[in-house]
Amino acid sequence: MPATRNSPTHDVVVFGATSFVGQILTRYLAEQFGTHDGLKWAIAGRSESKLAALRSGLGLKAGKLPLLVADAADEVALRRMCENTRVVISTVGPYALYGEPLVKVCAETGTDYCDLTGEVQWIRRMIRAYEKAAKKSGARIVHCCGFDSIPSDLGVHFLQREAKARFGAPCTEVRMRVKGMRGGFSGGTVASLMNVVKEASADPALRKELSNPYSICPEGYAPKVRQPDVRSPQYDADFDSWVAPFVMSAINTRIVQRSNALSKQDYGADFRYDEAMLTGRGIKGQLAATGVTAGLAAMMVAGALPPARWALGRFVLPAPGEGPSPEAQRKGYFDLRFLGRTDGGDELRVKVTGDRDPGYGSTAKMLGQAGACLALDFADSGRGGGFWTPATMFGDRLVERLTAHSGLAFEVLEA
Ligand SMILES: NC(=O)c1ccc[n+]([C@@H]2O[C@H](COP(=O)([O-])OP(=O)(O)OC[C@H]3O[C@@H](n4cnc5c(N)ncnc54)[C@H](OP(=O)(O)O)[C@@H]3O)[C@@H](O)[C@H]2O)c1
Repeated sequence: MPATRNSPTHDVVVFGATSFVGQILTRYLAEQFGTHDGLKWAIAGRSESKLAALRSGLGLKAGKLPLLVADAADEVALRRMCENTRVVISTVGPYALYGEPLVKVCAETGTDYCDLTGEVQWIRRMIRAYEKAAKKSGARIVHCCGFDSIPSDLGVHFLQREAKARFGAPCTEVRMRVKGMRGGFSGGTVASLMNVVKEASADPALRKELSNPYSICPEGYAPKVRQPDVRSPQYDADFDSWVAPFVMSAINTRIVQRSNALSKQDYGADFRYDEAMLTGRGIKGQLAATGVTAGLAAMMVAGALPPARWALGRFVLPAPGEGPSPEAQRKGYFDLRFLGRTDGGDELRVKVTGDRDPGYGSTAKMLGQAGACLALDFADSGRGGGFWTPATMFGDRLVERLTAHSGLAFEVLEA
């Protein structure tokens, strides 16, 4: 029987399966779902020989795991891939350089899509360009399904659900603090970060856009609320610790604000949210906060200057395809703390933790479950086409999947 949109050949296709994170994801899907047991999945990329090597590295023979070849710039090949597929998971990045044709084709063909981008400027461009087509075709597009921004977005979702059950009202102020994390960078992430800094340093309008906390909210959404933003070392009395800026807050805070906007301000019209890193008490904590702030500033300056950017890429940072060792991935973890306050002064503390290194071992599991959730749990959910966030698309269902299958834990910290 030929494949149709209602019964496609593949539930999930991993596009970019040969990327650093794509390989971890592919191994995870093989462990979780085997081949075609419950989830019909396939791998895709631009190089047939690399895909075949990946498949045989998993101990699978040809015919066990379908393999599709498409270049990120080849709309005809992408359309062929999407027309037989329910959900495409993409790890082909930097997305701002390679990702647009696939989003366009998914939006036009009604194919669901999720990815790992953290590039705010690109997400904004995709929403503006393809939201109409996605709404018309029924394609659900969900960006940011890795460490940025699932733990933040679902952490706030989880906290608000508990707050409403306990206090009858959401927390209009929430702060996320990174208590601990261990993990490395891969070449793809570094390339994406450097590309954002490069684009922003050349374009003042983009810099302004990136500083707007509502930049990826629906057009015209502009609450008159001053959002907090930790940009320098400071003491946080609620956590009895010094804090420093957190590099991922630039994307996570935007996604959380979009979740509030899409849910008709479920977290309140005056909702305030920020993120930072805890660096400890006393002079040691203060020095550490100063060091982290200075390090981040130096990286931004280096990323903006062409010779320094070249030297960083050539001698210091990992190249595309490189990343943390399997041992470093295994030893990695993250521990995030959330403090919420209602307008009435009630307080709630929540902890979100994950095993494996956040950017790769854990990210691959989050992305895989997001794709499976779209394909298996929300195929006929009535949730229409458009650009969603992890919290508004998946909510409690993904919290359950991540807790059961991905080493994440969401807990209320009782006083
Ligand atoms: N949100 C998060 O927490 C998080 C965590 C990790 C990574 N990421 C993001 O995920 C992306 C992947 O990261 P990574 O480190 O795994 O990247 P990577 O190892 O550098 O891999 C990039 C992938 O893109 C593919 N590619 C490049 N040009 C292509 C083209 N024209 N057509 C088809 N495929 C093409 C490469 O194919 P070949 O294999 O054939 O060269 C490779 O598979 C990056 O954007 C990174 O920022 C996000």
